[in-house]
Amino acid sequence: MCGIVGILGKEAVADGLVEALRRLEYRGYDSAGVATLEEGHLAICRAEGKLKNLTHKLFRHPLAGHSGIGHTRWATHGKPSERNAHPHITKRVAVVHNGIIENFRELKSELEGEGITFRSDTDTEVVAQLVDREMVRGAAPEAAVAAVLPRLKGAFALAFLFDGQTDLLIAARKGSPLAIGFGDGEMFLGSDAIALGPFTDVICYLEEGDWAVLTRAGALIRDESGQVVSRPSQKVAAGSLLVDKGNHRHFMAKEIYEQPEVIGHTFGHYLNLDTETVNLPELPFDLAEVEHISITACGTALYAGAVAEYWFERFGRLPVSTDIASEFRYRETPLTGKGVTIVISQSGETADTLASLRYAKEHGQKTIAVVNVPTSTIAREADAVLPTLAGPEIGVASTKAFTCQLATLACLSVALGRARGHLSEEDEHRLVRAMMEVPRLMTEALKLSPEIELLSRTLAKARDVLYLGRGTNYPLAMEGALKLKEISYIHAEGYAGGELKHGPIALIDETMPVVVIAPHDRIFEKTVSNMEEVAARGGRIILLTDPKGAAAASVDAVQKLILPEMPATVAPMVYSIPVQLIAYHTAVLMGTDVDQPRNLAKSVTVE
Ligand code: F6R
Repeated sequence: MCGIVGILGKEAVADGLVEALRRLEYRGYDSAGVATLEEGHLAICRAEGKLKNLTHKLFRHPLAGHSGIGHTRWATHGKPSERNAHPHITKRVAVVHNGIIENFRELKSELEGEGITFRSDTDTEVVAQLVDREMVRGAAPEAAVAAVLPRLKGAFALAFLFDGQTDLLIAARKGSPLAIGFGDGEMFLGSDAIALGPFTDVICYLEEGDWAVLTRAGALIRDESGQVVSRPSQKVAAGSLLVDKGNHRHFMAKEIYEQPEVIGHTFGHYLNLDTETVNLPELPFDLAEVEHISITACGTALYAGAVAEYWFERFGRLPVSTDIASEFRYRETPLTGKGVTIVISQSGETADTLASLRYAKEHGQKTIAVVNVPTSTIAREADAVLPTLAGPEIGVASTKAFTCQLATLACLSVALGRARGHLSEEDEHRLVRAMMEVPRLMTEALKLSPEIELLSRTLAKARDVLYLGRGTNYPLAMEGALKLKEISYIHAEGYAGGELKHGPIALIDETMPVVVIAPHDRIFEKTVSNMEEVAARGGRIILLTDPKGAAAASVDAVQKLILPEMPATVAPMVYSIPVQLIAYHTAVLMGTDVDQPRNLAKSVTVE
């Protein structure tokens, strides 16, 4: 999604703006731009494509000025091009924007009716033109913004820079996050704290509907009704501002390799290792009384929820439904009295997941957010928060956040089983001991990397890949397919093994690799039958299994990736590692932009 930065500095700000934008690259973007006040007057530089195109332009035509705003754009209205890149300027104001102005067509025709011509195809330019019109009518910058904000429908974060106003930035937030950074006689703005890492670690987040007037002396924040409000500033932990690949070629590789450590942190947060029990933070409701669980999320987070559905049903013995957030919010799902809705999100800002959370609250549900960004909107709005302690995830393809979501949900499922009396104390101890083994098992799984690298040479030649799994390995099969398609651009589908004969088997021939995720469990034999069906049609099988499974899978044409034996409950976490490495190595071989795959955004803050 788009990224916003702003600086009121002591020196020239163009380089700092670009540096801050670089730290927002992970969000996904297709053009970028900056505006500064050169000798007090608005000047801009914009470029299609990656930031290097912008820096080349800035090298040829440097921008002076101690105040400025910058933007990375992920196209929504109007194709990715220089003309549609932000900032959008008029004579009096420059604007950068994250989100969507839903009523822009209506506003645009109103302005065009007054003879105003537009220079881009974006929804953002209407904001610039509306503010400009107020100023032409005599309003000062602050009054102009105050008059325009109530007219904008949709979700947005905005930053304004005004011609002739070298000590002023105005920022507004409705739906999309925005952080204000405090320096020594300098002020900063950013879509997140990571963007501001090089400048300051003292941050304050605007709340829904807030707008702020920044000068080098500080920030005056107002809420939606215009009341001056105070928002707490916080010192951000240094680790959360680091965006560094370490010794790895890509953030994604670094994040895959970090998993034994971060899943250990997550388990450490929820497990008492001495008593071998699960210790959840206090919840504002009794788990024993819950009658139904609705899980809702998007993409990879949804698949974490789909794995948890099996755990909640097995350990908690209660009905669970898992839904795509964009469907859940509009389906008018009836929600019963003692229901709990669990939303899962790495960013905590995904528009559909947030809307689903609000829907559930409006319909009387208790809500739990499993989130990785503790300051996010979803974390703030849910009744209870179960944090995943994955640390900042920069690669667009989610890896460590996924396994930490699984870890958190596994702990919740055990707590639920205990509270409802379906798990005994001994069951809890046994499950906790299994979870404590996950970091070690993940480290073992990472050793498969060289083997997977070799195998990816075959996968890189494929046009389509099928992933199969049963039970909790079925959502993992879907996650594997998602991972492969998003970073290697190879078409892939994840299916439940039992569904093979109901359609996808038609695709199988000697060019079609089939990745089968099958530890030796109680339904392993069924999966062997699926593999026989694939082998009989010439399909090439890559089997992720354990030593017992490898010995029992007497099927031709199988390449085996053998993981250690482990209890079934923890298998989805550990088997995620080879699943992620398959996608990673294939994408590297294909030469794609692994950390910022085309068309994708890290955090989808628009519908
Ligand atoms: C896939 C991926 C996405 C996200 C989805 C939800 O690798 O990263 O599918 O999982 O956009 O994002 P969050 O978890 O931030 O709500």
